[in-house]
Amino acid sequence: MAGVSVGTVSNVLNGAVVVREPRRKRVLEVIENLGYQPSQLARGLRKNSTDLVGMIIPDITNPFFPRVVRGAEDMAFKHGHRLVLCNADDDPDKEVSYLEDLRSFRPAGLLIIPSDGSVLMKTLRHSDPPVIFLDRCPVGWHGGCVMVDNQDGAYQAASHLLALGHRRFAVIAGPLHLTNAAARLQGFQRALSEAHIKLTPEFIQEARFNTESGYAAAMRLLRMLPRPTAIFASNDLLASGAVTAIRHLGLRCPEDVSVVGFDNFEFAEHTTPALTTVHQSGYQIGAAACSMLLEAIQYPSRPLGHTVLPTELKIRNSTMHVSAQPRTSESFTRGIQKSSARKI
Ligand code: RIB
Repeated sequence: MAGVSVGTVSNVLNGAVVVREPRRKRVLEVIENLGYQPSQLARGLRKNSTDLVGMIIPDITNPFFPRVVRGAEDMAFKHGHRLVLCNADDDPDKEVSYLEDLRSFRPAGLLIIPSDGSVLMKTLRHSDPPVIFLDRCPVGWHGGCVMVDNQDGAYQAASHLLALGHRRFAVIAGPLHLTNAAARLQGFQRALSEAHIKLTPEFIQEARFNTESGYAAAMRLLRMLPRPTAIFASNDLLASGAVTAIRHLGLRCPEDVSVVGFDNFEFAEHTTPALTTVHQSGYQIGAAACSMLLEAIQYPSRPLGHTVLPTELKIRNSTMHVSAQPRTSESFTRGIQKSSARKI
C-alpha cells in the first residue's frame, strides 16, 4: 500500500536505517490508516528475545516494594524497555511459576526480589536471560545483586537506643531465612555485644514482614519480665504493629517503650508518635538494579557484583531517653493490669 519493501517498513518502525521523506511519510500514513500495531510476540520470536524486563516481587501490599518497582520501571522505560510485574505473595511456588511464565515472554532480563531465594535459585537455568536479585541476595548467589547495608542500619538503630540509656531490649525480626532480616538481627546484636549486653533468645521474636505479625510479637515480648524498654522492629510494618500493641497494653510509646523500625515508609513520619526508623531508598535499589541489568544485557560476559547502598537513621518521636521514662513500677503495674484485663 505504501509502495515500498517490507524492509523499508521495518526500518521506518525500528529506526535502524534512516528512511527519507516522502517514503517515510507514506509508510506512516498507511500504518495510521490500517491501525497497524507491531507485534512484540512476532518480534520476540524472530529475535528470540523481547524488550520486556520481567520483575518478581514478594508482596505488592507492602509499601516498600512499589517504591523499588518505580525505580526499576523508570530506568527500564528510559532505556526503551517495558516492565512486566509479578506479585509472588511470599509464596516460593508461585514465584517459580511466575518465572516459568516470564521465560515464555522471552524477556531481555529479570529483576527478582525473592520470597525464598534458595528455592528460586535452584530453578534458574544457564539459558535464562540475565538475572539481578534485589534487596535480599540469596546465599550462594554470585551474580548481580543490589541491596542496602542491612547490618549497618540495624547497628545504627542499636547505637541510638544505647545512647538513650536503654539496656533492656527486644527485637521483632523479619523472616530469618531472608538474608536482609538475618543481617539486621546480626547488626543489632553486634552493637549490643560491643556494649557487653546480651540479647537472650526469648527477647528475639521472628515475624513476617506485616503489621499483624508485629502486633502479636510485641504482645508476647511486653508480657515478659523484666519488660524491655526498647524494641527494634525489622521493618516499619512490624514497628507499627508493635506501637499498637504497646497502646493496647495500656503503655505508651516512647514514655514506657521506645520503638525503632526499618525502611522509613512515607507514613513513618505521620504516625503517632512519628517513627524513628532506618531509611533505605527502595527507589534507588530498583533503579540501580535495573541499571545493572541493562549493563548485563548489553555486555553478557561482563562479571557482575553486589551493590550495597547506604542507610540512614531517621530519629523521630518513638524513642526517648530511658531516664525520661516514668518510674518502672508505675508503668509496669499499668501494663500488667491492662494486659491481664485485655484478652487478645
Ligand atoms: O518492608 C519489607 C521489608 O522487606 C523491607 O525491609 C525490605 O528490605 C524487604 O526486604
